[in-house]
Amino acid sequence: MSTASRPLRVVAVSGSLTAPSRTTALVEAITEAFGRALPIEPHLIALNELGPHLAGALTRKQLPPEAEEELQRIEAADLLVVATPVYRASFTGLFKYLFDFVDQYALVDTPVLLAATGGSERHALIIEHQLRPLFGFFQSLALPVGVYAHDSDFTDYKISNEQLTERIEKAIERALPLVRSSLVEKETVERTLAGEDVSAE
Ligand SMILES: Cc1cc2nc3c(=O)[nH]c(=O)nc-3n(C[C@H](O)[C@H](O)[C@H](O)COP(=O)(O)O)c2cc1C
Repeated sequence: MSTASRPLRVVAVSGSLTAPSRTTALVEAITEAFGRALPIEPHLIALNELGPHLAGALTRKQLPPEAEEELQRIEAADLLVVATPVYRASFTGLFKYLFDFVDQYALVDTPVLLAATGGSERHALIIEHQLRPLFGFFQSLALPVGVYAHDSDFTDYKISNEQLTERIEKAIERALPLVRSSLVEKETVERTLAGEDVSAE
C-alpha cells in the first residue's frame, strides 16, 4: 500500500529499563499528540520488555525473531519517536545497543522526534549532544524541537506539568510540515520505483 493511502507507521522507542516509566509515558504522550494531527498506526517498543531478547547477541543474526521483528519495524517506520532516560549523562546502554543493530542506511530521511527524561535539568542537552548526533549518523531527519522532561513533570508516571504538554505541542507543530513533506517525497520515490512518470507533476 502506498504511503498516501495508509496511516503513518509511527514507531515509538522507550529506552527505559523499568515499568512503570516516565520515559514510556513521554513517548506515548508524544505519539498520541501526533495521532491527533495525522492518521497513524502506532507501535511502541519498550526496552524493559525487549532488552532481555537482545541481551547477549553480538551480531544481528544472533537475535531472536522478537528482536528482529522490532528492528524491521524501526527500519520501516514513517516516523520515529525516540526517548531515553538519562543514565550517566547519556542514553541508556540498551537504547544504543538496539540502534547498533539498525541498518546504517535504513533511517535515511526518516523523521525522528527526539525526547529524554532525567532527574536533573542540567542534563537537558542530552537531546542536542547525544541523541541528535546519533540520528545525524543515520542521516535521519532529526526534528527541530526535542522534548526533555524532568522527574518532577510527572505524578504517578503520568505527565502533570502543563508546560511539558505545551512543549510537546510545540514539538509537534514544528514537526508536522517536515513530516508531511517527507511523506510526499517518500510517495514520489515509491511511485517512481513502481514505474510511474512523476516528472511532469
Ligand atoms: C543508573 C541511572 C543513572 C542515572 N543517571 C542520570 C544522569 O546522569 N542525569 C540525570 O539527570 N538523571 C539520571 N538518572 C535519573 C533518570 O534519568 C530519571 O529518573 C528518569 O526520569 C528515569 O526514567 P524512567 O522513569 O523512564 O526510568 C539516572 C537514573 C539511573 C537509574
